[in-house]
Amino acid sequence: MQTITITRPDDWHLHLRDGAALTFVLPHTARQFARAIVMPNLKPPVTTVELATAYRQRILAALPNGMKFQPLMTLYLTDNTAPDEIRKAKDSGFIHGVKLYPAGATTNSDAGVTNLKHCWKTLEVMQQVGMPLLIHGEVTDSAIDLFDREKAFIDQQLIPLRAAFPELRVVFEHITTKDAADYVRSDTSKKLGATITAHHLLYNRNAIFLGGVRPHYYCLPVLKREKHRLALVEAATSGDARFFLGTDSAPHAKGAKETACGCAGCYTALHALELYAEAFDAAGKLDKLEAFASFHGPDFYRLPRNTEHVTLKRETWKLPDELPFMDTTIIPLRAGEVLQWKLRGN
Ligand code: NCD
Ligand code: ZN
Repeated sequence: MQTITITRPDDWHLHLRDGAALTFVLPHTARQFARAIVMPNLKPPVTTVELATAYRQRILAALPNGMKFQPLMTLYLTDNTAPDEIRKAKDSGFIHGVKLYPAGATTNSDAGVTNLKHCWKTLEVMQQVGMPLLIHGEVTDSAIDLFDREKAFIDQQLIPLRAAFPELRVVFEHITTKDAADYVRSDTSKKLGATITAHHLLYNRNAIFLGGVRPHYYCLPVLKREKHRLALVEAATSGDARFFLGTDSAPHAKGAKETACGCAGCYTALHALELYAEAFDAAGKLDKLEAFASFHGPDFYRLPRNTEHVTLKRETWKLPDELPFMDTTIIPLRAGEVLQWKLRGN
């Protein structure tokens, strides 16, 4: 296959940031995707409908003339999110999920949830009104090995949570382990979905240490062993409707990554579809890309599928070493290296 034309995809997990950073990254995403679930981990976080409304306006205002893109907003769950805020969010029509960050789990998660028990009434209302819970699924206990935190989250938090709220729709975000893929697959409730990033399909944890420490391959949840990568490829390319595309593209300026204590996050907004195409191609499953990228997400979120199309061509091209980003630069994942697929200009 030399070209592949698919229904225009959406990104079901994206960090757009705000202010000047937003204006640099938004055109990359809007070129690739029709819509995206926009993460709320700004500083300060997007905790109310009022803040989400204003953030949505800033995103739309930052969109270059002639580009189309629909931001699907989310709220940031805290210990104090009022049940009424969920009702308001549902009524807004543009808030499509509420994000659970265990406090301290990742970038800008300090205001996150310290104990799910504090959120019980709020979760009840989410279940009742049909507002999905989007989960960063890692425990924060420093006694638990970094590589085991997703599995521990499933056992300690996710299973009890879903037993308590069986009708709550949940997206297990950016899954990184065979354990998570197996857990999602074993579920028969039709209330559980999972996003998978391109980098977790293409790389295992060796990429972070190849010939020296490589901060641009460091994200959370961190890349895992090869057996986990293989399980994610198998899940993403299986045609199973519970798995869908979420880049977790997370821009950090070059200096914030290349430092003694670098930020977590890989930047893939520029070339996400090319990376996914490469992963599906390597698995011999290009025919399954469209459903994963363009059908399963809207079906889970109960939104219409897109009607436009995009075409990817098998063509090698070199990714830039860095891209302009505010008054500095950003290093995309696989910077300066060759990609195997190219999205046709649009
Ligand atoms: C994200 C970010 O930078 O906001 N970083 C990351 O490594 N993925 C936060 C997140 O999704 O965990
Ligand atoms: Zn993320």
